[in-house]
Amino acid sequence: METLLTTKGTKEEKYILLLKQIKALIEKEYDTICAMANVAAMIQETFSFLWTGFYRVENETTLILGPFQGPIACTRIKKGKGVCGTAWEKDQTMIVPDVEKFPGHIACSSLSKSEIVIPLHNADNKIMGVLDIDSEELNTFDNTDAHYLEEIARCIPV
Ligand code: SME
Repeated sequence: METLLTTKGTKEEKYILLLKQIKALIEKEYDTICAMANVAAMIQETFSFLWTGFYRVENETTLILGPFQGPIACTRIKKGKGVCGTAWEKDQTMIVPDVEKFPGHIACSSLSKSEIVIPLHNADNKIMGVLDIDSEELNTFDNTDAHYLEEIARCIPV
């Protein structure tokens, strides 16, 4: 694949095309960072969010910044802190319609208004990192985003 195909269709149609290309591009990839780098770029090219990226579990208590697209970001997040640390601690996808209403939200950029965070599990169902996407608009993410981004997260070799 040389260029990413995008569609002007619905959000769901965009995700379906994106997912197909992500699967094709990384199905034989074994390196986590390499896969994360291209997936962040592909999501970003499709949707032009404010920030799309990954944090990886560094040790039992800390997430460390991984491959991303967008403005520079916080480098380390403690378990249970912010939206990312909460998704890790609770082991669940977090959809935040208004980041200002999320207690403890970590504002890497003052432009961020809404956010979604998806945990990445390994074969033993252990969380190895999170996929974090920030939007400049309120209420950007819903269950459609969660559904497809969870499927994208399962493609990352962790
Ligand atoms: N807002 C996140 C921190 C990461 S940045 O948005 C890239 C959080 O509250 O966990």
